[in-house]
Amino acid sequence: MSAAKRNESVAKASKPARDTRVIVPQKSKRRFYGHGIPGVDINQLAGKLIVVEGADGSGRSTQIQMLVDWLESAGHSTVQVGLKRSTLVSEELDRAQEGNILSRTTLSLFYATDFADQLENIILPALRAGQMVLSDRYIYTLMARDIVRGMDEKWLKNLYGMALVPDAVFYLNVAPAELVQRTFAKYSILDFWESGMDIGLSRDMFDSFLKYQALMLKTFKSLQSTYGFHIIDAHRPVEVINADLRKKIGAVLVGHHIE
Ligand SMILES: Nc1ncnc2c1ncn2[C@@H]1O[C@H](COP(=O)(O)OP(=O)(O)OP(=O)(O)O)[C@@H](O)[C@H]1O
Ligand SMILES: [Mg+2]
Repeated sequence: MSAAKRNESVAKASKPARDTRVIVPQKSKRRFYGHGIPGVDINQLAGKLIVVEGADGSGRSTQIQMLVDWLESAGHSTVQVGLKRSTLVSEELDRAQEGNILSRTTLSLFYATDFADQLENIILPALRAGQMVLSDRYIYTLMARDIVRGMDEKWLKNLYGMALVPDAVFYLNVAPAELVQRTFAKYSILDFWESGMDIGLSRDMFDSFLKYQALMLKTFKSLQSTYGFHIIDAHRPVEVINADLRKKIGAVLVGHHIE
């Protein structure tokens, strides 16, 4: 066998299955939304930051787990972050919410602390090490929750100027009535905060949930013009949504813009 033929057959034999192709991430133009974190050299951040946003029960965990499996099987090391997961304040944040003891501003700053801790100690080091960071929600949910509660949008945008601009943000869009069904099927109960019970929209939790989620959706749509999320129709079957996300993330990895 000639050397060329031998190389060809070796290449054929070692050709991986289509979905497990290793995509070498291309460098993206990095920036913070505003002031950022002092002392960080953003040109050193080789990994990618992918955000999956969406309401409670919109399917974020389901999709992220499938994306992790896909990325890991393609040879990428992944790291997962999400709201209220910092080692610094997550437990205190839970306790503060249970007791309903914080004002809007202090609760907002508490969440911002949780975010800043994960940004500095998990997200940035992981990106520096070239890992794929999958974030289950990001600053947008935090901002939308606060805007719905009457806080100043400019103040919030300035606060979250510390955040790194992700490589892609996907918003899993599900109608509030479907969210109720999914949340009930999963937990058999609605969450006090995710139903907006603290802002007095209705005494009936079910009614409050629908009103609150509709308000959140409206706020997300208004933030979209600034932050440019990719809205994903998440009423579709899990596999169909995931194929859509994989296609878009595949494009991000090779440095393309996605529609
Ligand atoms: N595309 C889908 N179609 C129908 N049901 C779905 C779909 N995606 C997820 N589910 C179901 O909806 C429920 C919520 O999904 P999942 O836990 O992934 O959502 P989540 O956004 O992470 O929710 P949470 O806010 O509670 O963390 C689960 O029972 C899941 O099996
Ligand atoms: Mg989840």
